[in-house]
Amino acid sequence: MKRKISILGSTGSVGTQCLDLIEENLKDFELITITAGINEKKLEEQVNKFKPKYYYSKSDLNYSYGKRLNNYQDILKFDDSDLIVIALSGVEGIDPTIFSLEQGRKVLLANKESLVVGGDIIVELSKDNGGEIIPLDSEHSAIWQCIKNEDYGSIDRVILTASGGALRDRATEELKKITVDDVLAHPTWKMGKKITVDSSTLINKVFEVQEASNLFSLPLDKIEVLFHRQSLIHGLAEFNDGNILAVLSYPDMKIPILYGLYYPERKSSSKIEKIDFRSIESLSFESFPEEKLGWFNFGMQLLNSSKLAPSFLVGSDQAAVEMFLEGKVSYTGMLDAMKRVYERFDFSVEYNLETIKETVQRSYIMTLKEIE
Ligand SMILES: NC(=O)c1ccc[n+]([C@@H]2O[C@H](COP(=O)([O-])OP(=O)(O)OC[C@H]3O[C@@H](n4cnc5c(N)ncnc54)[C@H](OP(=O)(O)O)[C@@H]3O)[C@@H](O)[C@H]2O)c1
Repeated sequence: MKRKISILGSTGSVGTQCLDLIEENLKDFELITITAGINEKKLEEQVNKFKPKYYYSKSDLNYSYGKRLNNYQDILKFDDSDLIVIALSGVEGIDPTIFSLEQGRKVLLANKESLVVGGDIIVELSKDNGGEIIPLDSEHSAIWQCIKNEDYGSIDRVILTASGGALRDRATEELKKITVDDVLAHPTWKMGKKITVDSSTLINKVFEVQEASNLFSLPLDKIEVLFHRQSLIHGLAEFNDGNILAVLSYPDMKIPILYGLYYPERKSSSKIEKIDFRSIESLSFESFPEEKLGWFNFGMQLLNSSKLAPSFLVGSDQAAVEMFLEGKVSYTGMLDAMKRVYERFDFSVEYNLETIKETVQRSYIMTLKEIE
């Protein structure tokens, strides 16, 4: 029987890769809904090609196939898919993730911001409503594969690998003059702009630590980051008996996406290149120079400071990165602005879904104003 599937954020990097895999396996999937933000051209192409039942974007244009829906609540009212891929970027992914899990849906979750800000609540929501979260982020997919059939009490630590991003070999003095093009030239992964900037600052790794802590209910001190420039090992889990399990593959998001699409089965794909070990000269692990850990240390310190700090980090970082991409703040100016906003931010409110969203919104606006 065909799996009914919806992709929220179908025009982005994760979304298009997901559609690529579905195209290869049309006999296995029926596309129910696809959505975009502003990229009408790509959305229309996808609607014409895949003929989903519904589509959504910020415009009100109607296409030759399917029916336009007006918002995510409407989507979840009409859409009866078995699998919902949440490939939206940034804070836009938070509400659709919550709506889907409240309805007990199976969610393939790429959007990391939702897991960072309120992952523990989201995981509970999913359990209470009979939903399921399958992580699509490569590191989390890897760790999940390592630990899901193990006794979590026997896990000594999990390790997320980091390539170091596009600026890993730049001298610290050069960072002030870094351009958007410099940052977007990621050495190993091809991703959307926001996450590529976050990879270069290492804030992406801070997000991933919090994501792993929430997703797997592990304390922050059991999660480590290891710099591994080849991006061939994605995640590792070390157990109390000294055994380590790891997941390796070429850096290609199609691999965790394919795993998620067919989970719990495994499926082969002509679109996936398998590792040829003889062509790999080395697997290296290194320490990052301390002077380049400014963002990382700031972010990690924040995670440990308050339950709402991850929400601050997500909102503030979103604003800073948007302003950087628009050329309104320098690369190093992003962190300076976030630190200034953090200094005067009030965290003295209760932690719940409402205050999470309010904190994301407030830190976003305060950071925009700080930069303007
Ligand atoms: N890319 C990767 O390899 C990768 C790996 C791991 C995790 N992730 C995570 O997966 C998520 C998606 O990343 P991505 O790289 O695929 O992002 P992306 O290329 O920027 O795509 C984002 C998608 O969300 C849509 N979108 C953005 N803002 C929207 C809004 N306000 N309203 C409605 N739709 C909106 C975009 O539509 P438009 O095209 O119309 O703008 C696009 O379809 C992020 O949370 C990221 O951290 C990505």
